[in-house]
Amino acid sequence: MRRNTAAALFAAALLASPLASAATISISCGAVGQELELCRQGADAWAQQTGHQVNIISTPNSATERLALYQQMLAAGSGDIDVYQIDVIWPGILATHLLDLSDKVPADVIGQHFKAIVDNNTVGGQLVAVPWFTDAGILYYRKDLLEKYGKQPPQTWQELSAIAAEIQEGERAAGNASMWGFVYQAKAYEGLTCNALEWIDSFGGGALVADDGKITANNPAAAEALTWAASTVGTIAPQGVLNYTEEESRGVWQSGNAVFMRNWPYAWALGNAPDSPIAGQIGVSALPKGGPDGKHTGTLGGWQLAVSKYSKNPDVAADLVVFLTSAAEQKRRAIQGAYNPTIESLYQDAEVLDAVPFFGSLYDTFVNAVARPSRVTGGRYNQVSSEFFNAVHEVLSGKAKAEDALASLEARLDRLSRGGRW
Ligand code: GLC
Repeated sequence: MRRNTAAALFAAALLASPLASAATISISCGAVGQELELCRQGADAWAQQTGHQVNIISTPNSATERLALYQQMLAAGSGDIDVYQIDVIWPGILATHLLDLSDKVPADVIGQHFKAIVDNNTVGGQLVAVPWFTDAGILYYRKDLLEKYGKQPPQTWQELSAIAAEIQEGERAAGNASMWGFVYQAKAYEGLTCNALEWIDSFGGGALVADDGKITANNPAAAEALTWAASTVGTIAPQGVLNYTEEESRGVWQSGNAVFMRNWPYAWALGNAPDSPIAGQIGVSALPKGGPDGKHTGTLGGWQLAVSKYSKNPDVAADLVVFLTSAAEQKRRAIQGAYNPTIESLYQDAEVLDAVPFFGSLYDTFVNAVARPSRVTGGRYNQVSSEFFNAVHEVLSGKAKAEDALASLEARLDRLSRGGRW
């Protein structure tokens, strides 16, 4: 009798303690800039609050490599990762492996996020991922150097080339042999797709595939854009840019060796950190236009959190997703890391705007960013993007002329889509 009572008491205690049903949730986080650290802090706070445990899995920085890894794990039905950080272009590619989160995230919470991103993450009526942060390409410039040479931030890419060349030359003559005019991302990977889409769209050359599926990649404005981009390699940009992802360009920029950089907002917080040689000297604007008749374009990027269908603890995993994508977490990440919230009201938050003033001044750039054609091309998007970045890389490295590369790209996309029927 006694023993039975003790056993019952023990069982009751187990049930009452949060650890009784404690689960360990594995989450894959990006590791670009401060991503991993911010993810760990958020996940730890959730673990503390719920009594569950979190295992953080760091993934390759290149979105292209990360997707390959995810596809391998998911195709094997692996439950090793419960929560996946997925790119804005992946819902269509990964949807079959992801849980529908519609009934796990309260409707009023989902309603706080930008509708366009929620729509993007809804595949076949299922909410397969919750928006975490959004992104758009922006132009970073050195305020001190522009001032020294009496320049304004460039309005067109051609102007950028001229200013970059002049300052690069002047600074080299003044003793900084390592100075470059412009750094960006031109390695053959997803980041080059983002950069090249910005050039092409800003020249009026469209976004590769129209919303109705028609392939528009091969046109004179696109050729003009790529020809301009190729002219930067080895002149205002180092030859090595052909192998740069986000972090390599930030490395050159943040050590004070570039006048301009194309990157995502995260580079703001790191560039202004107390130990950064260029802290306080950084200006940010929309990316230049492709000539006076062109337009300012930034590619839409961003990351979501999704729960794997193979998770052994889907409800607990979804609870972590709700916590990490909450307004409080998004605000913390915006202030500490300059990660753009996906919750609209945070763009009016005084503390957020104080930490990252361009979330206010470039608000239009963020909400009007040009999307890669991932919705219309669905499960084939990754092949479309690979064909595109490889073609662009050939042009940038001087192996092909823009016109020829675009014509053969068009033929390949045509085959891939069976004549535009994605
Ligand atoms: C950023 C963007 C993402 C994009 C990637 C390319 O992480 O948020 O959408 O695919 O850069 O490098």
